[in-house]
Amino acid sequence: MSEIALIVLAAGKGTRMKSALPKVMHRAAGRSLLGHVLAASAVVKPHAAVVVTGPDMEEVERETKHSFPSAQFTVQKDRNGTAHAVQTARGALGDFKGTIIVVYGDVPLIRPETIALMTGSVTADQPMAILGFRAIDPKGYGRLIQRPDGKILAIREELDATPEERKINLCNSGVISISSDILWPLLAKIRNDNAKGEYYLTDLVELAAAAGHGVALAECPESEVMGVNTRAQLAEVERLLQDGYRKTAMDGGATLIAPETVFFSADTTIGTDVVIEPNVYFGPGVSIGDNVSIMAFSHIEGARIGNGAKIGPYARLRPGADIGADAHIGNFVEIKNAKIDQGAKANHLSYIGDARVGAKSNIGAGTITCNYDGFEKHLTDIGAEVFVGSNTALVAPVKVGDGANIGAGSVITRDVPAHALALTRGPLDLREGWAAKYREIKKARKKSKV
Ligand code: UD1
Ligand code: MG
Repeated sequence: MSEIALIVLAAGKGTRMKSALPKVMHRAAGRSLLGHVLAASAVVKPHAAVVVTGPDMEEVERETKHSFPSAQFTVQKDRNGTAHAVQTARGALGDFKGTIIVVYGDVPLIRPETIALMTGSVTADQPMAILGFRAIDPKGYGRLIQRPDGKILAIREELDATPEERKINLCNSGVISISSDILWPLLAKIRNDNAKGEYYLTDLVELAAAAGHGVALAECPESEVMGVNTRAQLAEVERLLQDGYRKTAMDGGATLIAPETVFFSADTTIGTDVVIEPNVYFGPGVSIGDNVSIMAFSHIEGARIGNGAKIGPYARLRPGADIGADAHIGNFVEIKNAKIDQGAKANHLSYIGDARVGAKSNIGAGTITCNYDGFEKHLTDIGAEVFVGSNTALVAPVKVGDGANIGAGSVITRDVPAHALALTRGPLDLREGWAAKYREIKKARKKSKV
C-alpha cells in the first residue's frame, strides 16, 4: 500500500455564518468542524496533513495544533478556486509520493470508512477516485458526467452545465483521492476559462480521462457530505452527530432515559451499565466508567468519572474533575480541578476547586474551598475519612489530615492534623425566655401607635 497525504481545503471565510470566527472553527458536538474532518481522516494514518487556510486565520492553526500536532498549514492569499488551493499545499508536501486525498474542512460528517474507501480506491489502473452522492436537489453542485457504460468523463459545475447536464442528480461531494504521479502534472494544465473565472479542481477528472487514466467512483449518502455554510446547517450537523452518539452510547450498554435530551461531545467515552437521566450535557474531554449513574440536569466537561460513581442531579463537573470509584457528587455541587477519591461524598451545595478529597471523606452541605485569593489559585488537601461539617470554608492553601473532624460553620485557615477536631465558633449565647419577652414588647409598641 502506498503512503497517504491529506489536504484539507479551508480557505473559505464563511460569510454566511456572519461570524468573526473562521467557518471551520465553529463547533459541533464540542469539536471544530475542521477537527471532525481531521479525526475522520486520521483513520488512514496520513504521512502528512496540510490544511489550506485563508489570510488572517491564525486561530485555525493555533486551535488545531493542540489536537493534531503534526498538521501543517499553508495560507492561500487569493481565493482563486479549489485547484489553486491544492496547488498552495504543494510546498508543504515536498516530494511526497503516494496517494493524496483532498477533503473540505466544512464537511464534518464524512466517515472514517469513506476516507479509507477513497484512498483504497486509487490503484495503478485507476489512479484517481471521486466521491459522488445522489442529491435530492442537485442545484449548486458539480454534476458527474458519465458515459453510458458508467465511465466517468468529467465533473461539470452548475454554472457551466447545459440544461440537460443540470438534470443529472449524481453530484460531486468534493472529496477526491489521486496518485501524486498524476496530480501535479494535471493540476498544471487546469485553466480558469469558466463561468466563475476560478481554477476548478474538478477539471482534473476530464484531464485524467482524456489522458487515458481510469477514474473510480465511490458513492455515499448525501447527509455524509453535507457542507456547513449557515448556522442552521451547523445546527443540523449537530443534530445528526448527536443522534449518532446517542445510538452508539445505547449500543455500547448505556441506558438513556430520554436520549433526545442528552448531549455528548465527539470524544465522550462511556462504560457499560451506565444510566444517564434526562437533560444531561457532556462537554469535551469526558470519560465515564462502568455502573455510573448520571442524574438529571448535570453539566459535565473535562472530567473523568470512576466506576460506580453517582453524579447529580444538578451537578457541575468542570475541567480536571477526577471522580473516584463509588464517589457521590450531589445536587448543586461544583467540582473543578479536584481529585475526589474512592467513596468520598459531596452531596449538597458545595464548591470544590483545586483540591483533593481523600477516600471515604464526607463533605457537608455548603462547604466551600476558598481557592482564589484574587491573584492566585491555591490547593486544599483533604485526607481520607475526614468529616467536614456543613458550611465550612476551607481557606487554601490548607491541609486537613486523615480522620479529622471539622465542626459545622468553621472557617479553616490553618492546617488540621490527622484525627483532630477543628472548630471556629463564637460561644453560644443562650437566654431562656428572651424571645417571648421580646415579642410582648414589640406587640405592645405596635398597639400604642394605632
Ligand atoms: C465545490 C465543487 C463542486 C461540488 C461542491 C460540493 C469545485 C470547483 N466545485 O463547489 O463540484 O459539488 O464543492 O460541495 O471544486 N476553497 C478554498 N480555496 C478556494 C476555493 C475554495 O480553500 O480558492 C475551499 C472552501 O473553503 C471549501 C471548499 O474549498 O471548503 C469548496 O469550495 P466552494 O467554494 O464551497 O465550492 P463549491 O462551489 O461549493
Ligand atoms: Mg460549497
